[in-house]
Amino acid sequence: MIYKFLILPILQLINPEVSHFLAEKLLQLPFFKYLNPIGYFPKSKNIRVNVMDLEFDSPIGLAAGYDKNCKTIEPLISLGFGFITGGTITLQERFGNPRPRLFHIPEKEALINSLGFPSIGLENVEKKLNSKSKIKNKLFLSVSGISEDEIISCVETLDKYTNIFEINISSPNTSGLRLFHNPSELSKLVEKIKKSTHNKILIKLPPWTDELKQDHLSLAQTSILAGADGLVIANSMPTNNSKLAVGKGGLSGKVLTENTLRMIAEVRASIGPNPLIVACGGIFDERDIWNCIALGADLCQAYTGFIYKGPFFAHNINKKLSQLLIEKNIKSINDVKGSSLI
Ligand SMILES: Cc1cc2nc3c(=O)[nH]c(=O)nc-3n(C[C@H](O)[C@H](O)[C@H](O)COP(=O)(O)O)c2cc1C
Repeated sequence: MIYKFLILPILQLINPEVSHFLAEKLLQLPFFKYLNPIGYFPKSKNIRVNVMDLEFDSPIGLAAGYDKNCKTIEPLISLGFGFITGGTITLQERFGNPRPRLFHIPEKEALINSLGFPSIGLENVEKKLNSKSKIKNKLFLSVSGISEDEIISCVETLDKYTNIFEINISSPNTSGLRLFHNPSELSKLVEKIKKSTHNKILIKLPPWTDELKQDHLSLAQTSILAGADGLVIANSMPTNNSKLAVGKGGLSGKVLTENTLRMIAEVRASIGPNPLIVACGGIFDERDIWNCIALGADLCQAYTGFIYKGPFFAHNINKKLSQLLIEKNIKSINDVKGSSLI
């Protein structure tokens, strides 16, 4: 309540990139660790997810893009997320697109961005990571590049810091990535990555509408046939907007929820029961998580929901999801697949 009616309106008056910077600084303060009340709450056992020989305390993770340079992974985990996606990390340092490149649409609980991969670069990100850290099991690393070699360099260097790589071929703000929307290029890329790591590989696809369904399902199938362990469905929705310096970017937030549910059902039917599916796009509450999992997702990620709901976002989802399972007489979140939507 305090966040929604007091803090969020103030943050919306400030430039969104400045408010992001301030949030990052706050999370980095040493006393945040001791003052953060959420970190002291244990999570309920019924929301633990077991997938690919890994266990996650909660199905809700933070999507790529919030902690691009892996500066605040531990404090973000202490906010109740089951896992954090660090990145997207690129080989070279990049400044991204010219500003303005990020703004809120509060009435739709949406964001539009055209950041275009600002990154401190692989070498500098590596300095922020610790291969012995206990959080390795809760860290997905998102990497990208406009050539196979760039992506493979990131995977090889970061291999010891994570168990799961997310390969971002879908940022709407980086035109070079479209190379990997060609199934034979994508197939070659995935095969090459598989040869360079024993970690799990997820491919993050662009979202699709009904008209583009077949093309995107063919990218999904190609990824799995080439050896990917799963998919992240999906990135932000490409959109034109004259407020952005570059005129186009990606739409995210509540406007995507319905489309995400449809894509999850389609992609699960298309790739069969085994590959991992991470739902991403418009996930705001425990009902969205329930519905994504019921339709075939294994885990979920959110970015814009966290911005609009604030620091208690994941903690509240965990609590309410656990209560929902008890009300429905379902023992574990792992048993929700195939249930009716709510
Ligand atoms: C400001 C911003 C930056 C983002 N940066 C990245 C990124 O670096 N890599 C990536 O794979 N996705 C990035 N995304 C996309 C999100 O990870 C997510 O796929 C998308 O926002 C849809 O989820 P949401 O509706 O929960 O925000 C970004 C999204 C936003 C809003």
